[in-house]
Amino acid sequence: MSAKSPPFLLEAQKITKAFYHPKTVHILKDISLQIQAAESVAIVGRSGEGKSTLLQILGTLEDPCEGSLYIEGEKINSSNRTRMRNEKIGFVFQSFHLLEDYTALENVLMPARIARKSIGEGSQAKQRGLALLDQVGLADRAHFHTKLLSGGEKQRVALARAMCNDPCLILADEPSGNLDSHTALIIHDILLNFAKHEKKALLLVTHDRELAQLCSRRYELRNGILIEA
Ligand SMILES: Nc1ncnc2c1ncn2[C@@H]1O[C@H](COP(=O)(O)OP(=O)(O)OP(=O)(O)O)[C@@H](O)[C@H]1O
Ligand SMILES: [Mg+2]
Repeated sequence: MSAKSPPFLLEAQKITKAFYHPKTVHILKDISLQIQAAESVAIVGRSGEGKSTLLQILGTLEDPCEGSLYIEGEKINSSNRTRMRNEKIGFVFQSFHLLEDYTALENVLMPARIARKSIGEGSQAKQRGLALLDQVGLADRAHFHTKLLSGGEKQRVALARAMCNDPCLILADEPSGNLDSHTALIIHDILLNFAKHEKKALLLVTHDRELAQLCSRRYELRNGILIEA
């Protein structure tokens, strides 16, 4: 890369992953991937191919067996991992991982709380949290405990939470898997605009061919490698 080029927002080099219990399975065999600002990348693939595992590794939540990961050009290691994750990455998990006894707004503000930002009345973070809930169509559910929300509503809270700290990278695992087609379109717009207009990077796993088509690039994860699709 020339000195002038900005670093990739996400770069993975030769990632491998195997699980050894209850029996050995080699899930990821050789994964290299680079994503620049304003790019959106979709990963498709059959159930069980390792898409969620890959996202967890790219999001620094799980260690690869081998390979390296760089976020905005900085190599991830054990001493910068937590800071990088909090500052740079927003997640939308396949199973949401919301705190059910907290309200939608409290969940959305969790990354800000972890980053020790002020989240009190009138704080910038709280304003942003409310605006994000409004953006995903949940302004009137802000003060509901998330256990009272529907599956699709939870998914949208998870998306708002992913954007809370204004990360440079969003990793989204089937972000519209539980939504009706109208709400799914709204969520796709939010995700794609996040990448395109805010010059961030979006990597999503989806079974939705239409959503995959809207992304700048597509890969299929098959037999442990990424194939351009
Ligand atoms: N901690 C673990 N220990 C052992 N095996 C695991 C572990 N985590 C995942 N696996 C296995 O790795 C494979 C890939 O799982 P993963 O959840 O990444 O698939 P996926 O592509 O996201 O599937 P889906 O489309 O159903 O969500 C599965 O066969 C799963 O059983
Ligand atoms: Mg999965």
